[in-house]
This record gives sequence, C-alpha cells and structure tokens, in this order.
Amino acid sequence: MSTEHVRSEIQPREHLDFKLNDGLPRFWHGGDPYKTRFFDAMSVTFPIGERYFISTVRAYRDEIKDPKLAAEVKDFIRQEAQHGMVHAEFNELLSKQGIAVRWGERFLDRKFKWQLKRWSKAFNLSYTAAAEHVTAMMCSTLFQRSMAFKGADKRIAAIYAWHSIEEVEHKAVAFDVLTKVAKVSYLTRIAGLIYFSIEYPLGNWFAVNQMLKSDGFGAWARTKMLLKGAWWLYKPGGVFMPSMGYYFSYFKPGFHPWQHQEPQHHGAWVKAYEETGDPIQAAEVFS
Ligand SMILES: [Fe+2]
Ligand SMILES: [Fe+2]
Repeated sequence: MSTEHVRSEIQPREHLDFKLNDGLPRFWHGGDPYKTRFFDAMSVTFPIGERYFISTVRAYRDEIKDPKLAAEVKDFIRQEAQHGMVHAEFNELLSKQGIAVRWGERFLDRKFKWQLKRWSKAFNLSYTAAAEHVTAMMCSTLFQRSMAFKGADKRIAAIYAWHSIEEVEHKAVAFDVLTKVAKVSYLTRIAGLIYFSIEYPLGNWFAVNQMLKSDGFGAWARTKMLLKGAWWLYKPGGVFMPSMGYYFSYFKPGFHPWQHQEPQHHGAWVKAYEETGDPIQAAEVFS
C-alpha cells in the first residue's frame, strides 16, 4: 500500500461573492454551447446531489466514535451545504434564461428520495463515496489542465475553482465513514463506483442534450456538438483520459483518497483567497 500524503485542512468558507448579479452571458464558456451546458448540467445536480450526500453520511453520525472524524463530518456538511447554495443561485440564473433546468431538478429529487428509501444505508454511502472519488479526480485534473476552463467567464470558473478546492479538502470524509464506521465489504465499495460510473455520464449526456434543445439547436446540430464534446472529453490527452489512473486506483484493495496528492495549485489558491477574500481573484492562480 502506498503512503498517504498530508491531508489539507477542511475549511468551510461562507458568504463568497461570485458577482452573479452582473448578468450571465448565454454561452459563458467562451461562446461554446457544448462546454457551457456540460458544466451547467453538472451544476444542476449539485444542490440536490449534495443534499443527498449529506443525508447518507449523516445516517452514520451516531456511530462515529472518533472525534476527529466527527469534526470532519461537520465540516464536510458545512462545505457541501455552501456548494449547494451557490449552485442553486447559479441554476436559478440558467432557468431565468429559459434553459431546461427544472425537469432535471424534479427528476433528481425523486431519484435520490427513492435511493434513500430503497437502498441500504451502506449502499447509499458507497454511492456517495464513489461520487466523491470521481469528483476529487475531476477537481485534481480540471485545474491542473487549465484547458477545461480556458476562455470561460471568470466568475463561473471561480465557482468551480472554489468548489474543487473544497472537494479535495473533504475528499476522504465519506470514504472514511464508509470504511471505518460502516465497515462495508470491498464488493459494496466497488459496486458503488461501478453504479455511479455508468449512471452519471449517461445522465450528463441526456441533460446536456435537453439543455441544448432548450437553446434552440436542432437534432443534427446537437448531434455534432455532442460528438465534438465527446472528443474534447475522451480523446487521448483530453479532459478525462489523463485521469484514468486516478479513477482506477479506487479498485486497489488498500486504496485511500489521500494516497493522491492534492492539486498543484491548492496552496496558492488558499493563500490568495485568505489575502484577498475574493474567490474570483483567487481563481487566477489556476490560469
Ligand atoms: Fe460539493
Ligand atoms: Fe463533496
């Protein structure tokens, strides 16, 4: 088993101003409809998804005896609650622009309520830990490879920068509850990742297609955009391919999220944010 790196402290940050009142260009990602809607579809999942993540971890709160882990769970909940609030505000702007957002929210709300009711406590938490692994993987790579936000509106890139920083800070919390408190089997842990890895990309593609439809693009234009988008994501050296080692590390029996070092720019972002109190300025360390 490889050694764990030093964990970064979990710091819940509140009242961040992303200046969203100044209006939002329709295709805020450098005028590119696909890239814009790819991140928008992710944003739609956050407020409801993160509320679900909190519920699945909270379900074990009374069984956590380690005070350090209990404190980390509290900070995890505070961070996820803030993420949900900022993305809800952003999603509201999208909805006002006429983008298909509400049907996705209704669908996700029903889906997660169903999971909480029908699945075991352990499998719900396994799903959360898997989602946190994929999120941490994306956060580590999105900003190390600045191509993902090249040409994007600085405010939206700053939301994702802040969110990524905090996701990395709390990346091991759900995993630690899963393995040290719920003590699930290897199979349950891996089943959560397999389920999430099939479901999430399908959901994202479907949502992006619906959003592009609400932008007024016809079937042929959308097909071309989705194919070009797939190439941007999955081509060799694209957004995801260099992260495959990170992704598959979860399958190692002795895996722990802190076997991966935090992204290069993490410390620089934290310092810049502490000095300026401005998440938009802090995000410039990624450019
Ligand atoms: Fe989050
Ligand atoms: Fe998270």
